[in-house]
Amino acid sequence: MRSCVPSLSQAPRALLLFVTALCLASCASLHRGVADGRIESLIARMTVEEKVGQLSLYAPAGEIVGNPQAAHQSAERELADIRAGRITGFFNGQGLEAKRRAQQAAVKESRLGIPLIFAADIIHGFRTVFPVPLGEAASWEPALAERTTRASAEEASSDGFRWTFAPMVDIARDARWGRGVEGAGEDVLLSSRFAAARVRGFQGPDLSRPDAMLATPKHFAGYGAAEGGLDYNTVDLSERTLREVYLPPFKAAIDAGALSIMSAFNEISGIPSNANRALLTGILRGEWGFKGFVVSDYTADEELIAHGFAADGREAAKRAFLAGTDVSMQSGLYMRWLPELVASGEVPMERLDDAVRRVLRVKEKLGLFDAPFRGLEDDPPGTTRYDAAAHQALAREAARRSIVLLKNQGDLLPLSKSGTRIALIGPFAGMSDLFGPWMVFRGQAAPVSIEDALRGALADPSLLSVSRGSNVETALPGGIDAAVAAARAADVVVLSIGESEKMSGEASSRSDIEVPQPQQDLANAIAATGKPVVVLLRNGRALALKQGVRDARAILVTWFLGSQTGPAIADILFGDASPSGRLPVSFPQTPGQVPYYYSHKRTGRPELADHPDLSYRARYIDATNEALYPFGFGLGYAPVRYEALEVGPAQLAWNGTLSVKARIANTGHRDVEETAQLYIGNRAASVTRPVRELKAFRKVNVPAGGATEVEFTLSRRDLEFIGQDLQPTVEPGQFDLWVGPSAVGGLHSTFVLAPG
Ligand code: NOJ
Repeated sequence: MRSCVPSLSQAPRALLLFVTALCLASCASLHRGVADGRIESLIARMTVEEKVGQLSLYAPAGEIVGNPQAAHQSAERELADIRAGRITGFFNGQGLEAKRRAQQAAVKESRLGIPLIFAADIIHGFRTVFPVPLGEAASWEPALAERTTRASAEEASSDGFRWTFAPMVDIARDARWGRGVEGAGEDVLLSSRFAAARVRGFQGPDLSRPDAMLATPKHFAGYGAAEGGLDYNTVDLSERTLREVYLPPFKAAIDAGALSIMSAFNEISGIPSNANRALLTGILRGEWGFKGFVVSDYTADEELIAHGFAADGREAAKRAFLAGTDVSMQSGLYMRWLPELVASGEVPMERLDDAVRRVLRVKEKLGLFDAPFRGLEDDPPGTTRYDAAAHQALAREAARRSIVLLKNQGDLLPLSKSGTRIALIGPFAGMSDLFGPWMVFRGQAAPVSIEDALRGALADPSLLSVSRGSNVETALPGGIDAAVAAARAADVVVLSIGESEKMSGEASSRSDIEVPQPQQDLANAIAATGKPVVVLLRNGRALALKQGVRDARAILVTWFLGSQTGPAIADILFGDASPSGRLPVSFPQTPGQVPYYYSHKRTGRPELADHPDLSYRARYIDATNEALYPFGFGLGYAPVRYEALEVGPAQLAWNGTLSVKARIANTGHRDVEETAQLYIGNRAASVTRPVRELKAFRKVNVPAGGATEVEFTLSRRDLEFIGQDLQPTVEPGQFDLWVGPSAVGGLHSTFVLAPG
């Protein structure tokens, strides 16, 4: 855009700045005006069918990936629909040539030439595969997620995708639910920080840049609260919990600039989200001022019939659309029914125009009108528009920083690269299940397995033996005997066990969250050899560990780490890096404790550690309420000690700030990165409060033998909760405060919030 600022070299600086600001403002509004002008003139010329076309999104014919069925039976039919202006875009389709042909039909062969938008589920990478989102959340580094999502956007946009169905920002507190792997875990603050960072990463500084991708926080809302952890299941949730726990990550994503949002499959307290007006219009547009558009989840509008919320497709389309779902994914229901509903007056034209305007404005912001073929060109052979090597390095860094060390008895880790005979045992030692459950595009560079990476790292690769021992869910005949023999011949066993890719993700809830029995049998048999064992868990959720797994001398949680799985694990195993991940989900003692999360309420009869009589208390008769490994927990290769907590002033003034300082001492011989966590607990309020809530965290380096200060500042806003009137409120009173390495323990203090 040419500058509107005239030459005012002689003018005083203040005047110059004033005039510049004025001119920039009018340039911006001029540009907005031009854009809006184009959109309004289009809307004025569009037929109702063309308008509905802008609200109809499909998986391309024959290319459906990761979802049940394609809507278009043939490419010819699809092209005809594009030319007729009946399609706004496609998702999860592969191939530049097919995308180009479709865009050509839209831009050059349709009456109004409105460009298509190409979307994809870019959940944890495109060509380069990064750790699954839950794993990456274990880094407790939103800035890292911003970098990996930026890299993913660079890769996917250079393949013509400008819209991603990510980030998933659903809070997941029931480990049975398979989709917890796609989010950032159980905590409101951590999830909100990751939600915002991932939106910033995908969208970049400016949506019109060629490598920007429109982000879609999903699934709005409460999807993770499915009863029994069963995917798609009913959610019955108080509005208070919805507002306090499940909505904040969405709000954070929208505040970070997300301009689309996906409505969820589930109902909440009787109203399916996809047709929930209070949610999609009241909260989202009314309270939050959302300017983008709502896209349904896959056929979620049609599923209103199965929910028993609509008698037929006509009613389903009407209810979903009037509630605020602007774009229909895959069912074709809007195209089938909205024209008739508009003609009959049941759906006002203003509502239709509003939805179309929202979609077209976003297409405009993405620069699609001006450069519809951007990203759809072939790269010259052997080249990429992004730095593939840098992305692989980032994948290794992200993978390394996602690993959580739960246990390291007798400093078994790190292992020596020379002179130690290592038996690598388990079904995940080789190439299987490296990526994780949500990789539509399955990366292009081959991932590096643990076996290859260990062999590459060892001074003498012949010191490594590899045996499978067991399949993932079934026994391997003779496998345990061979593995036990390998263990006996080694100095240390590295046992790679856990879940396959298909055991978490969509429609992959488990009724049990233990390591599958055949692998548990393998672990027990290896434990019986008495050899030191390092367990490498591969998992898409918190697991309940027992026997030979729980009792191993060292345990590393390695999730699904992606392209650089092997090298990242080798970096940690051999101590080239100290583990720095912290759990974003609590690991319970037993599966029967789920849903399990640290930020629970107290009850009138809490289980108190110092209470001598445990009868008539809120506890199971056969298990304590403690986590096996709490939220926030993780070790490094040196012990740290929290000390010298200072909280002041003792009385936080209504408009004041509270300063919280502590020192972290590293009493070991290796540098570590520690994640200092600040929790508060509200002693008494007009609505009961959780035992603890994370309010701040900071990742710091603590040098061997040294100490590092951490400092936090709290204000009244950090003490907010949803009051009896369902509005955010703060009440004066006494608070507990802890600073420590996890949601359990830590240095304790109290403070008082003074009345305003
Ligand atoms: C269904 C999933 O729930 C959603 O997350 C995904 O984006 C769509 N399918 C499209 O693949």
